[in-house]
Amino acid sequence: MTEIHTETDDRQLLYIERTKHIVAQRSREVGHPLCACVVTFGCQMNARDSEKLRGILKAVGYQLTDAEDEADFIAYNTCTVRENADKHVYGRLGRLVGLKREKPWLIVGLCGCMMQEPQVVEKVRKSYPVVDLIFGTHNLFTFPELLHKVLTDQRRVIDVWESSPEIVENLPVERKYSFKSGVNIMFGCNNFCSYCIVPYVRGREKSREPEAILNECRRLAKDGVMEIMLLGQNVNSYGKTLDHPVSFARLLSEVCKIDGIRRVRFMTSHPKDLSDELIDVIAENPKICRHFHLPVQSGSDRILKAMNRHYDRNRYLAIVRKLREQVPDISLTTDIIVGFPGETEEDFADTLSLVKEVGYDSVFTFIYSPRTGTPAASMPDQVPEKTVHERFDRLLMQVRESAEERCARFKGRTMDVLVEEENKEPGYVTGRISQNITVHFKGSKDLIGKIVPVTLDDCRGFYYFGTQAGCPES
Ligand code: SAH
Ligand code: SF4
Ligand code: F3S
Repeated sequence: MTEIHTETDDRQLLYIERTKHIVAQRSREVGHPLCACVVTFGCQMNARDSEKLRGILKAVGYQLTDAEDEADFIAYNTCTVRENADKHVYGRLGRLVGLKREKPWLIVGLCGCMMQEPQVVEKVRKSYPVVDLIFGTHNLFTFPELLHKVLTDQRRVIDVWESSPEIVENLPVERKYSFKSGVNIMFGCNNFCSYCIVPYVRGREKSREPEAILNECRRLAKDGVMEIMLLGQNVNSYGKTLDHPVSFARLLSEVCKIDGIRRVRFMTSHPKDLSDELIDVIAENPKICRHFHLPVQSGSDRILKAMNRHYDRNRYLAIVRKLREQVPDISLTTDIIVGFPGETEEDFADTLSLVKEVGYDSVFTFIYSPRTGTPAASMPDQVPEKTVHERFDRLLMQVRESAEERCARFKGRTMDVLVEEENKEPGYVTGRISQNITVHFKGSKDLIGKIVPVTLDDCRGFYYFGTQAGCPES
């Protein structure tokens, strides 16, 4: 099978070569190797994009660091899904002013979803002279060229595209973990949920060719990756617009066939496009993790309609029943928004009762945040802040009750844990079971990246303390 290789890749690879010389020269001038730090805000898509940025930075000769004050290049890969995310970035930019005074050669870059909003770029341009480089989600792949420009021109570089011309495949990537990796299967979103900014900042949905995805997974497996997370805003609609359409279920079963891949996860699944074929594939395939993140957003039919979600409460509950019937061990998680415009006490009661009825393993709860340009932002009856906070607290209580009960169901069982990192507590490591529940147990750091049987002794609400119950699988 051949990789898709385009002139665009060649151009950027050329800029990587050119930039190498400049970085080497700058290192000599400042008397130490140049360091770069990429800070990620937002979702798994952004996390994966940051790995691409780090891959390019490493390829041009930067040493990577997580400490901003050690860095000679800092990039903030931003998120704009809620207003808080924006505020956080502005706050951190303010703090970089002092750092730049100490280190005048420091380069500050901003990219990601916030940069796709013209009013944000304008604000940064006017009020944040500390920023040297701005680019968007659609031209992330031109980072080598932009980096070259900012290093050579000694002036601000701003380049934000309105859409992506093609999917660029072959740029370097620096993974955060050696043993697990995200893999983009699609970009953008066509759903236009009425509260959501993502379709505006990430553009229209575009699926990658299955061969490109499978080749990437094979390469990752050869490189020691055992857990793959397939990424898209709505993985269930994967492949529909390809010249030769392929279903997500089919892609998933192909990924499972790859030797060396032991676990497959995916994110995120929209209930409206969830097929029976997908549930069958999960049920048949033990490599697919027993965890399903199925955002419901609200338990009220009226609100779901206003959100433009294209399913109702009954349909959602029917999917949950089917999943649990066919995949009995599955854990279910969801996203819920509180305080969508027009949400009444009755609507909110429907959300509470849905949480109780489903019995989620975990819920990500969000306070509705109006995003400029989305239909919901100009809807009447925005819910007063006090009411929203009060509902939010009630929801959290309900979630905690259900989740603690669900999590405890594995108590005493011995389950496979993929060990991810050393724990803050010395002598302990932390990993996850297939159901995505975190487990801490006594063990040394050479267990990292291995699958270890662990007895889940002590359930602490959302996570476990356990004891190693056998040797790691090789
Ligand atoms: N594509 C995914 C969600 C991506 S955004 C999906 O459709 O499931 C992640 C979550 O952020 C959403 O599920 C939603 O719960 C929340 N969210 C999105 N826009 C929001 C807004 N304006 N205010 C509050 N929460 C929001
Ligand atoms: Fe946003 Fe809806 Fe698309 Fe998810 S499916 S990214 S919530 S518009
Ligand atoms: Fe945020 Fe962009 Fe993801 S807005 S949630 S980082 S797609």
